[in-house]
Amino acid sequence: MRMLSAEYNHVHAKCIDVDSEFLASPSLSLRVAAEALAAVEETEICYRDGHRFAPYLQSRRLAERIDSSQPQFSVRPNGAYVITGGTNGIGLEIAAYLASLGAKHLALTGITPLPSQDQWPSALKSNETSMYVRRKLEKLLQIQSMGASIEIHCGRLTEKKRLSAFLAGFRAKVGKIHGIVHSAGCTPDNSNGRFAFINKSQEDLQRVFEPKADGLEGLHEALSGKSRISL
Ligand SMILES: NC(=O)c1ccc[n+]([C@@H]2O[C@H](COP(=O)([O-])OP(=O)(O)OC[C@H]3O[C@@H](n4cnc5c(N)ncnc54)[C@H](OP(=O)(O)O)[C@@H]3O)[C@@H](O)[C@H]2O)c1
Repeated sequence: MRMLSAEYNHVHAKCIDVDSEFLASPSLSLRVAAEALAAVEETEICYRDGHRFAPYLQSRRLAERIDSSQPQFSVRPNGAYVITGGTNGIGLEIAAYLASLGAKHLALTGITPLPSQDQWPSALKSNETSMYVRRKLEKLLQIQSMGASIEIHCGRLTEKKRLSAFLAGFRAKVGKIHGIVHSAGCTPDNSNGRFAFINKSQEDLQRVFEPKADGLEGLHEALSGKSRISL
């Protein structure tokens, strides 16, 4: 919604998240019309129990909150973490960060097949290994050198049986999973010039949603009924 107005500044788009109290209101149409006329900067509004909520930014001085001598986040000593999309980009950086804080076991998922772990050092040196894979291997070896063990799963999160089997194996090895980061996603292909949301085909959208939304459901199902995650 926010992007629609950004891409077409003559279009005022707004997402109104309502509850049953709002929908039952006798003046429903007037309230929706009032929203349509309200400040255009507010692209996301939420109604709950008669209260109207709008997101806003508040400026804060970083120095007030950050004590650089203290880590901002701590992991369980010997903790076990699952990172979807952990084989590249942000997910791989998070994996390295968790390992640097002392995480002991990391389960990383991705799509691109990787060589088996005993072959990582030689594959890293081989000219037959693509640059994409070499960059991953370099970082993965760096993470291992920090003392973390790594389990890799290559496959879509929507392939539920395979994902469940992988996570069951990881859990059997490490005991308890202490945290999950969902970072799997694919960058939309804009090479066709279809930058704007409205010009995207259903296939483009499905490709983007698949790991983020359906994949999250797959992850949830694979882990549901298991003991509580506690960071
Ligand atoms: N980077 C940014 O500036 C930025 C900004 C806003 C939002 N995000 C979002 O943050 C997330 C991570 O971004 P990133 O830059 O780290 O992306 P990235 O470098 O492309 O890494 C994406 C990860 O997700 C995996 N993946 C791709 N398609 C998948 C699928 N269909 N099912 C399961 N896994 C899949 C990839 O596997 P392979 O390694 O095998 O390819 C990789 O591990 C994405 O959802 C992205 O949209 C990123």
